[in-house]
Amino acid sequence: MSVSELRILENGDELAREAADFVVWAGEQALKSAGTFRLALSGGSTPKALYALLAGPGFARRFDWSRAAIFFGDERCVPPDHADSNFRMANETLFKPLKLAGDRIFRMRSEDEPALAAGRYEDGIRKEFGAPAPAWPRFDLILLGLGDDGHTASLFPGTPALRERQRLIVPNQAPQGTKQRLTFTAPLINQAHAVVFLVSGRSKAPALKAVLEDRAADPERYPAKLIQPDNGRLIWFLDHAAAAELPVEQQRVISHEE
Ligand code: 6PG
Repeated sequence: MSVSELRILENGDELAREAADFVVWAGEQALKSAGTFRLALSGGSTPKALYALLAGPGFARRFDWSRAAIFFGDERCVPPDHADSNFRMANETLFKPLKLAGDRIFRMRSEDEPALAAGRYEDGIRKEFGAPAPAWPRFDLILLGLGDDGHTASLFPGTPALRERQRLIVPNQAPQGTKQRLTFTAPLINQAHAVVFLVSGRSKAPALKAVLEDRAADPERYPAKLIQPDNGRLIWFLDHAAAAELPVEQQRVISHEE
């Protein structure tokens, strides 16, 4: 069972900077220990500032992204150039600015039939990690967000994906927006060496309190509670607004250099 590490920053920009420092640090550690850095990106809007920082002058030269293998923790089932596509967001903010080669970017083929796309993505992960079933691939770092409703990746309240214990990747349904999704499962996420949540904004405060503070809160209602790395770090990068409903002693604003 992992212990949650909280890092509460003044605002979204400071959160992105602190998270960028951590991503680069985690990448350097992975290169030292394994010669590669396998990470999964989060979708949504919060990570945009992080990805733009990583691709910017302050960070781009601190890490050799050509040695990374970049995956996606979930995707909306739309074409890769669609406005809702998580790949498109990462491509615009990170891949293109860094001029990353496509062979190190593992896109979910979300334009294909969902079950087929999920199976192919799972096969691709197992091949890249050299981890045939029933082994569980261990990502170096998985980035996640938190929805106002307590979802993470595309693990939404009351959906079948929450109860998956064998597969790495499954199709799932979102309650609104682009409903058809592909997502990492909780068991896959919980194998990671490090899981980082990026949570910004006052609208996240009630769900964050339920996930972090309410032992009685049901993971079926707050799926982010399922994320408990078996043997890895769990770090929450929060801004003050998202942390507003946490106990006062956890309100301190900190900034960490790894
Ligand atoms: C997605 C994400 C999703 C996201 C949360 C938070 O595909 O949308 O994987 O889990 O991280 O909904 O989204 P925001 O960062 O936009 O608040």
